[in-house]
Amino acid sequence: MADELKRGLEGVLVAESDLSYVDGEVGKLVYRGYDIEDLARGASYEEVLYLLWHGSLPTAAELDAFAADLAAEREVDDDVIETVRALAGAGERPMAALRTATSMLSAYDPDDEADAGEATLRQGRRITAKIPTVLAAFERVRQGEEPVAPDPDLSHAGNFLYMLTGTEPDDVSEETFDMALTLHADHGLNASTFTAMVIGSTMADVYSGVTGGIGALSGPLHGGANQDVMEVLHEVDASSKDPVQWVKDARDDGRRVPGFGHRVYKVKDPRANILEEKLRDLAESSGDTKWLDYTTAIEEYLTEQGLVEEGIAPNVDFYSGSVYDSLGIPVDMYTPIFAMSRVGGWIAHVAEYQEDNRLIRPRARYTGPEDSEFVPLDER
Ligand SMILES: CC(C)(COP(=O)(O)OP(=O)(O)OC[C@H]1O[C@@H](n2cnc3c(N)ncnc32)[C@H](O)[C@@H]1OP(=O)(O)O)[C@@H](O)C(=O)NCCC(=O)NCCS
Repeated sequence: MADELKRGLEGVLVAESDLSYVDGEVGKLVYRGYDIEDLARGASYEEVLYLLWHGSLPTAAELDAFAADLAAEREVDDDVIETVRALAGAGERPMAALRTATSMLSAYDPDDEADAGEATLRQGRRITAKIPTVLAAFERVRQGEEPVAPDPDLSHAGNFLYMLTGTEPDDVSEETFDMALTLHADHGLNASTFTAMVIGSTMADVYSGVTGGIGALSGPLHGGANQDVMEVLHEVDASSKDPVQWVKDARDDGRRVPGFGHRVYKVKDPRANILEEKLRDLAESSGDTKWLDYTTAIEEYLTEQGLVEEGIAPNVDFYSGSVYDSLGIPVDMYTPIFAMSRVGGWIAHVAEYQEDNRLIRPRARYTGPEDSEFVPLDER
């Protein structure tokens, strides 16, 4: 039993955590016992960060102080902005640019490297505050515009949209984006969180953990799927193809449908339900129902085909792209936005794990040759 191999670590318990719980059988997600639906509708991203990092929902006074401390850390050093300019100029992809810039941020952190562990939450607050500034600057420069300095009077969500566009967002956009941040903040030991934890378990500093988390999140099997979904919807739109025909062709070619399937959820992801409802509201108020129509058609078809019944149901990425599109956010910024939110969860898990740290070090079953006879280089 001890030697049982679990490919992809499926179902393996590696730690205890008070942070979030995913019930994949019924489609339930809680952060510290609070249902994601209640948090998405009732709490700001700052409240959720406080909950994850400090264990309980803040009082109004605690939230004010916490949000002000976070907002005070938004500015990044000019050198980082210059690097972001260079990366944009070289045509770097946004997730790769974010990974490089996040790693660079550590050079300007006042905490000592030797404080790793003790400094995790302090440094984590700085990273969380600065990632939106880096991302917005990257996008502005790519568009031939100058970066916009952060405004400490705006919320985490509102300030990001402001830095992206140069204009203060309206209430609906700010609330919608804030909800998306809350929905993505934590999700058990997903691949990027586990990556950050593995790095944190070596007692490396949290910049290393977050940089690793960004790398893990960038893959199409993880955070990259939201971009893939939107690219499919754009492709369908540009070719005037029936979205159902696109899915049929993809399945005939043996391709996966992005935004469907999940390692833990065997029913529809509760975050997908919330975002679908949000998309419906946005479509109704704008009168533009295109993305809603396409996603609904794809989901209905795959439900009829029995895929959803088999447990390959819509996940959070199936609807998030359409919501971001309605906010005017470019497609290749979707995964970086996921990182901008999930960084809260990475930091919470690293801090929690380091409180009772043990180096994470699994084993592989060795299937290579035995007793290989060494032949010196000049005789091979
Ligand atoms: C998320 C994901 C990687 C989880 O995969 P997993 O737990 O490792 O499950 P597997 O890859 O072993 O897939 C199990 C079966 O479901 C099928 N499947 C899984 N996701 C599918 C999808 N999106 N479309 C079609 N079939 C899918 C697989 O082909 C496999 O079928 P098989 O056993 O006949 O070969 C997978 O569902 C996927 O690739 N989804 C698309 C990408 C995506 O949306 N990612 C974001 C997740 S939040």
